[in-house]
Amino acid sequence: MNKLAINWWEKSVSLPVPHYKWPNIDDKIEKVVIEQLHKTISIYDKSGIFEEFENNFSNYHWLNHSLLFNSWTSAIFAMFESIWLWPWDEILCPNYTFFATISPITYNWAFPIPCDCDKDWNIDPNEILKKITSKTKAIIITHMWWIPCNMDLIVNICKENNLLLLEDCSHAHWAEYKWKKVWTFWDIAAWSLQWKKTLTWWEWWVLSTNNEEYYYKSLLLWHYNKRSSSEIPLDHDYHKYSTTWFWLKLRAHPLAIAIANDELSRLDTYLQDRNEFASYMINEVNDISFLQMPNFDDKLPSWYAFVMQYNQDEANGILLEKFYEALICEWLDELDIPFSTSLIHNFDLFKELNNVNPRLYKENIKTYTDIDFPNSVKFYNNALKLPVWNRECDKEIVEKYVEWIKKVAYYVVNEPWVFKK
Ligand SMILES: Cc1ncc(COP(=O)(O)O)c(C=O)c1O
Repeated sequence: MNKLAINWWEKSVSLPVPHYKWPNIDDKIEKVVIEQLHKTISIYDKSGIFEEFENNFSNYHWLNHSLLFNSWTSAIFAMFESIWLWPWDEILCPNYTFFATISPITYNWAFPIPCDCDKDWNIDPNEILKKITSKTKAIIITHMWWIPCNMDLIVNICKENNLLLLEDCSHAHWAEYKWKKVWTFWDIAAWSLQWKKTLTWWEWWVLSTNNEEYYYKSLLLWHYNKRSSSEIPLDHDYHKYSTTWFWLKLRAHPLAIAIANDELSRLDTYLQDRNEFASYMINEVNDISFLQMPNFDDKLPSWYAFVMQYNQDEANGILLEKFYEALICEWLDELDIPFSTSLIHNFDLFKELNNVNPRLYKENIKTYTDIDFPNSVKFYNNALKLPVWNRECDKEIVEKYVEWIKKVAYYVVNEPWVFKK
């Protein structure tokens, strides 16, 4: 076995960086951009590339309405607006998620109520049950990293308690729970399509729903004037507001959507390829006792990322940070300890709503400590993340990554003292 790079103070082999490139830019993408540039770079209504993309997205998902936004925050802001939150409403949410899943709630004078996660790092239905009160209006869930939440239980809870179900599908494009696509369970779902996501083009977002009321309200918020006027029926109560409504214009850019439309047509292939790469990686690292993969049984992951759990006790007491450093020295440039996808209860925004926004909040949200969320704290503190590759030419890199992980793992198990140097 070669010596560890961490002890020799240099990387073992050099591979050209970056080791992960996403999205793939090819001639076809360049062509659709140029074509769109010559057509138009501003669209006021549901026409052109907006219409084509939204219809394709809805058809792909068997949905009635899809609406593009210029950012995730805009989309989710519209989501919360469209369900008409009232002051003091409570929205149950995962404690472990990207903060943007829920931060726009705080613009509505409502309260996010964090719930601990289950063994798969998703919101735990039992925790949801414990936190429902007469003020609970909705539950927002995130299918974290690529694994669908426990939808049977969550849907039942929503039905029995008359709660709305909102879904953040940003990590789980086309994931399935018991052979049913994740977004088919909800009242409204939103997808981040920022550049790292499985379906991407830079910065744009989609909100989808089968409910016409939510759609019209989102439309009014998203696109004053022409689009709202032409799509909201004349006899609808909202029609008269369609020129101005909330005065906001949050629409996406046609160039980005032209590319995204092309990407949408390749999605099935992307998912299939990601699945192959992820399965290869799992098979290869499965025997490493201190690295745990989640069990996804009857769920079909969509492989936004490859997240492993590190078990320090099984790793002869070696700290996660030390293991990470050893891998980085071997040249796993893409390895990440995902810090910003974090624990909601620790963000000052949520601890100090009345300081951050005293115009709205007279009192504070209940404050929590790590003890209230043992599972999410454990998950967060032990997560290691890699990308999921998908191109034939990535094979060499993936094989190298697996080789380096196995090499460092060998030392963790057999010669742990070398990490103490
Ligand atoms: C679960 C989840 N929701 C929402 C977002 C926000 O997406 P964006 O970066 O597009 O604002 C992210 C960002 O990565 C995310 O991971």
